[in-house]
Amino acid sequence: MAEHVCPWWMGHLLANRLRRLVQNPYKILGPYVREGATVLDVGPGMGFFSLPLADMVGSKGRVVALDIQPKMLEGLRCRAEKAGLADRIDYRLVDGDGQNLADLAGRIDFALSFYMVHEVPDIPGFMAGIHKLMAPGGTWLVSEPKFHVSQEDFDQTIAMAARTRFKVAARPNLGFSHTALFRPLSKAE
Ligand SMILES: C[S@@+](CC[C@H](N)C(=O)[O-])C[C@H]1O[C@@H](n2cnc3c(N)ncnc32)[C@H](O)[C@@H]1O
Repeated sequence: MAEHVCPWWMGHLLANRLRRLVQNPYKILGPYVREGATVLDVGPGMGFFSLPLADMVGSKGRVVALDIQPKMLEGLRCRAEKAGLADRIDYRLVDGDGQNLADLAGRIDFALSFYMVHEVPDIPGFMAGIHKLMAPGGTWLVSEPKFHVSQEDFDQTIAMAARTRFKVAARPNLGFSHTALFRPLSKAE
């Protein structure tokens, strides 16, 4: 685990309802998430975005939540149970190197990495793993906090994504954040 990984107790703070006043998950994710979709929340913490995602995909959709910290996934499951959404979420404890995800290859319609890429030690390796999971035409929203990540560092993240065969499809303007929406290039592109 990288030294600067968000401590588990921060999961409670990040999932606080007041955060919706500045980051409304439905407004942020609504343009990209369809009912019945299979979506990935990478680094969900305690699920500030996973629960709205589970709501948006509906009973025929699925949210795969990948985290490296068991306590984050426990907190997420507890919150999902209270919200009646637990069955739509697939909770997976991962070691960050993309193993045990073979069953998801080419199946992800939308992926989210919100405030977590800067915690990943091997970002190119991580991006290559996400690329394998994306369905044709799928999109990946990456957002990083301006209070931890400089513009220069985010530019480097975008450059790494380009080298991993992602192209920038949009640059949504989200408060306090550097954000890019990526689309994986196909083999023909
Ligand atoms: C700052 S929190 C953000 C949580 C959530 N996305 C949000 O915006 O509220 C970062 C989360 O990413 C997780 N994480 C860090 N590196 C990861 C990796 N390589 N794979 C999956 N999760 C990771 C951490 O354990 C933590 O739960």
